[in-house]
Amino acid sequence: MKFTYYGHSCFRVETKGSAILFDPFISQNPLAAEVDLDAITADYIFVSHGHEDHILDCAYLAERTGALVVSNFEICEWLRRKGLKRLHAMNTGGQWTFPFGVVKAVAAQHSSGLPDGSYGGNPMGFVFKTGDRNFFYAGDTALTLDMQLIPSFVPPDLAFLPIGDNFTMGYEDAARAATMIQCRRIIGLHFDTFASIRIDKELARTHFKSRGLELILPEIGTTIEL
Ligand code: NI
Ligand code: MN
Repeated sequence: MKFTYYGHSCFRVETKGSAILFDPFISQNPLAAEVDLDAITADYIFVSHGHEDHILDCAYLAERTGALVVSNFEICEWLRRKGLKRLHAMNTGGQWTFPFGVVKAVAAQHSSGLPDGSYGGNPMGFVFKTGDRNFFYAGDTALTLDMQLIPSFVPPDLAFLPIGDNFTMGYEDAARAATMIQCRRIIGLHFDTFASIRIDKELARTHFKSRGLELILPEIGTTIEL
């Protein structure tokens, strides 16, 4: 599975012939200044919740790429009012079969207000069962016991977890989450973008390593095979 990191919680994977983009927040992320928004292609855009640092460039990219946007019901309706037509609404606990595999929407312990103050429904994470790499994108969330349920759907080969603390779990809780979801290979997201989520990357990596886990902290703009 090919993975490209665009900074914060925005990344793109190519799996089973589909390009899937997550939580697009690029144009106002100073750390992602080198990323060319207009060079990004996507067949799908998954949005975990309504906060601006996850939805900012969604409408623009969906219009430009023609991607199908997948999010919760309230966010899909908000995007529909902005003129988007290709939308697939889900809600926590539900699963849906896409051409690349099955996605289950799971609960995230967070909030989800939209940038204009509209109600943004409940925040979600997504578990992907693709037969290529099975993976979990947690969205923004606290550590929650509900994570123990994820392996009963599919034990993820990889998990994309927030590690920046303050607004979400920090890396210590992310390491505990890794154990709960039975996944040893974690890609860290949602760190360093703002002063309040800056982390010591070496300390985070060492913390994971001491627990027999791997923490990958990708460079913005790079593509790696996972
Ligand atoms: Ni958030
Ligand atoms: Mn966030």
